[in-house]
Amino acid sequence: MHKSIVLLPGDGIGPAVTEAAASVLQQVAANFSHTFTFHTRAIGGAAIDAAGEPLPAETLQACEEADAILLGAVGGPKWEQHPPHLRPEKGLLQLRKGIGLFANLRPVKTFPSLLDSSPLKPEIVAGSDLLIVRELTGGLYFGLPSERRDNGQTVVDTLHYERSEIERIVEIGFQSAMLRNKRLASVDKANVLESSKVWREVVDEKSKDYPEVTVEHMLVDSTAMKLITNPTYFDVIVTENLFGDILSDEASVLTGSLGLLPSASLRKDELGLYEPVHGSAPDIAGKDIANPLGAILSAAMLLRYSFGLEKEADSVEAAVDAILTKGYGTADMQAAPAFTVGTEKMTSLVLEQLQTA
Ligand code: NAI
Ligand code: MG
Repeated sequence: MHKSIVLLPGDGIGPAVTEAAASVLQQVAANFSHTFTFHTRAIGGAAIDAAGEPLPAETLQACEEADAILLGAVGGPKWEQHPPHLRPEKGLLQLRKGIGLFANLRPVKTFPSLLDSSPLKPEIVAGSDLLIVRELTGGLYFGLPSERRDNGQTVVDTLHYERSEIERIVEIGFQSAMLRNKRLASVDKANVLESSKVWREVVDEKSKDYPEVTVEHMLVDSTAMKLITNPTYFDVIVTENLFGDILSDEASVLTGSLGLLPSASLRKDELGLYEPVHGSAPDIAGKDIANPLGAILSAAMLLRYSFGLEKEADSVEAAVDAILTKGYGTADMQAAPAFTVGTEKMTSLVLEQLQTA
C-alpha cells in the first residue's frame, strides 16, 4: 500500500513527538511492505513565525491532498499576547473546520503496569478500554443565536443539530463499535432535550444496519458517574458535542498519564487528523523528556482508521504495551516507572520492539 502523510509538528514538544511517531510509521511500512511518504508543513506558532499566519494556505492544501495527517501540538507563551487571528490554536481550529472533521475519537486504555498512576483504585480501573466518539462541529458550541440581550439580563445559546449531522456521527459510532467489542452506549439527555430524542431515534434506526452491535441508551449524568465508578463497563460511547467534551476529559484522567493518550478527528472519507491529547508542553520542550507514546498511539489510530491497516495498528499498540510491561516509562507518569527514559530512548525501545516482534 502506498500512502501519503502530512506531518504538522507545530510547537513546543510537538516536533519531538511527531518525529517519534513518524519513525514508528516508517518501521511499520518496512515490516509490512508498505510505502509511506511524509510531507512536513507548518502550523501554529511555527507557521506564524515563518509565514505570518497560523494556517498557511499551502498547509491546508497539502492536508486536503494527503491520505492522513499527523499533528504534534500547537501553542506556547511566545504567541499568547497575539490578537485572536494570530494565535497558534486558531490554526488548528481552521484546519479542523477547513477539511470538515466532524468526529472526534478518544480511546482510553489502562495499561496493567500503570495502574498506580490512576487517581482511581487499581481494582476499579484495571481492564478499562473504552472509546469516546464525540460530535465535533454542531450542537451548543456552534448554534445561533448565541448572544446577550437586555444588557446581559437575558442570555441565549442555541443547541442546533441537523438530522444528517446526527446520522453521520452515529454511523461512525457504529463503525467504531464494529472494530472493537461491538457494544455501543449512546449518551444523551432524552428525558429533557428534544435534540436528544431525535438522537435516540437516529440511533435506533441505524442499529438495524448493525445487528451485531449491542446498543444501550444512557443519560449523560449517570454516564458521568459510571465512568468513574465502573469504567470497565464501557466499550464505545457515542455522543454529541458538549457531552462528549466533558466526558472525554473525565475519561482522560482514568489512566493518570496525559502523555499516553491519542486522538483522531475524522470525516466521512478516509482522511483523518491524528494527534496526542496533550498540548505543546512548553515547560519541557527541548529537554528530551516528553512522552512520545501519545503521538505513537495516535499513529496507530491513523493506520487503523485512515488506512484500514488493523494488523499494523495492533502491532504498534502491542509494542507500546510490551515496553510499558517491561517497566519503562517517562518522567510524566504519576507512579514512577522502574526505568525512567527520555523521548529518544522510549522511541528507540518501541522501534526495537517492532523490529523483533
Ligand atoms: P499541556 O498538555 O501542554 O501540558 C500540561 C502538563 O502536562 C505540563 O506540565 C506538561 O509538561 C505535561 N505534558 C503534556 N504532554 C506531555 C508529554 N507528552 N510528556 C510529558 N509531559 C507532558 O497543556 P497546557 O500546559 O495547558 O498547554 C500548553 C500549551 O499547549 C498551550 O499553549 C495550549 O494552548 C496548548 N495546547 C495545545 C493543544 C493542541 O495542540 N491540540 C491541546 C492542549 C493545549
Ligand atoms: Mg475539552
